[in-house]
Amino acid sequence: MKKIYSNIRGTSDFDTFDSFIFSRICKKARSAFNIFGYQEIILPILEEKGLFAKGVGQVTDIVQGQIFELKGKDIVLRPEGTAQVIRYYIQNSLHKKSDFHKFFYIGPMFRRERPQKGRFRQFHHIGAEAIGSDSIYLDVEVIMLALKISAECGIKDTELKINSLGCADDKRKFSEYIKKSLKPATLCAACKTRSTHQALRVLDCKRPECIKAVKDLNLGQNSLCQACQEQFKKLRSILDDAGVKYTSVPTLVRGLDYYTNTVFEITSSKLGSQDAVGAGGRYNNLMKTLGGPDIPAIGFALGLERMLIALGSKDFKQKPDIFVATIDKTTVAKGFEILTRLREADLSCVFEYQQKTLKAQLRSAQKKGIRFVVIVGEDELKEGSVILKDMDKSVQTKVKIDNLILEIEKIS
Ligand code: HAM
Repeated sequence: MKKIYSNIRGTSDFDTFDSFIFSRICKKARSAFNIFGYQEIILPILEEKGLFAKGVGQVTDIVQGQIFELKGKDIVLRPEGTAQVIRYYIQNSLHKKSDFHKFFYIGPMFRRERPQKGRFRQFHHIGAEAIGSDSIYLDVEVIMLALKISAECGIKDTELKINSLGCADDKRKFSEYIKKSLKPATLCAACKTRSTHQALRVLDCKRPECIKAVKDLNLGQNSLCQACQEQFKKLRSILDDAGVKYTSVPTLVRGLDYYTNTVFEITSSKLGSQDAVGAGGRYNNLMKTLGGPDIPAIGFALGLERMLIALGSKDFKQKPDIFVATIDKTTVAKGFEILTRLREADLSCVFEYQQKTLKAQLRSAQKKGIRFVVIVGEDELKEGSVILKDMDKSVQTKVKIDNLILEIEKIS
């Protein structure tokens, strides 16, 4: 029996619509990155496993069970971009070239998660990393950039959630406090285990029993040292001054070990249980952890597939502007010549290659939602003209071929 192959579970085939929106999102993101002064880097999909064990954290969900590893090698498909960008930075001693770098990247990431709506095994990140400054204004810049990209892409009903995990010392003390205070018997099965070696992760578990157990802890921002409290206050006041709306969520901790101080998430009500369109935060100690110099950094990543889901509607048609129709075989050559001329003027147009009747060609143009049809007929050609039909207005005029481009540009 013939085997019919399907795409691998947790991966997506983007149809022409999704591919078009995908490219449009990338275009909008690149324009926002340019406005904010971030430069693109394209890094490999394959990395050494140890980079993520050390960078993201040995006991994180990602490293514990989600890494796609090449059999018998210490090579993995990258699960995220931050540790990788820092690897690239250290490898090339970029701190010797400049003390401040702002990078962005767009590309696929891989995590062996249980696939569900908004959660895939291959997905794409639009990520940014700003390396070399601990200024709280940079935290605000990064947050505003992530918000700008999602807004420019048309994602509505978003909410910005922020928190501060404090410095490494605060984080360690807070984690010990949580570990001591939580009663494992009240938690879901996964969090019973987490509560011993990854206690902070229990805070953003979505299971009702864990939400209740965490609520009972009555958390505030009092786990932070004076300096980190001041810093978080400053962050909120700059966001207020900039008119950026946010919710301060003391249980927002994020699943990657490298974060300290500012963490944030942008959620959308258009998504289901996987409601984060993007997330990020500060990771001032990651560079040192990976054997580099002691340089602070902050960044974020937006999930492209989640942006596609949040955008929803498929009623948008990707269509050319012009359909070049020919009356019969005798006008095909001239029709093709006109098509070429229109394309040289950067007008998007299609041609009928299957020798259908004019009626069928007009029907096809209408079905595709194309606004203009150029009808190439023998009689008009004798006068150096064609018929230009505006399908939206149902009007047609005779136009000299030499004036055709000008005429289309005038009325479109
Ligand atoms: P993350 O929260 O793991 O952060 O991923 C960022 C975003 O990627 C999520 O908010 C979500 O939109 C999307 N995402 C994550 N996992 C999946 C999945 N399995 N399927 C579909 N989309 C997914 C990071 O990876 C950090 N590197 C972000 C960062 C950059 N922090 C600082 N700099």
